[in-house]
Amino acid sequence: MYVCLCEGVTDTQIRDAVYEGCCSYREVRGSLGIASQCGKCACLAKQVVRETIAEV
Ligand code: FES
Repeated sequence: MYVCLCEGVTDTQIRDAVYEGCCSYREVRGSLGIASQCGKCACLAKQVVRETIAEV
């Protein structure tokens, strides 16, 4: 599912970024460019990052 429509980033890409070493929302945002335009995805993106970090 798309989380960030502006940048075309999916939840899978966000999870992969965490698996590959990003350990905070800020790092994922820097790596994928999420929430860099309209910002509407920030809340959901944070949630996905938080859930994924809790799993690993
Ligand atoms: Fe992510 Fe607009 S949907 S910045």
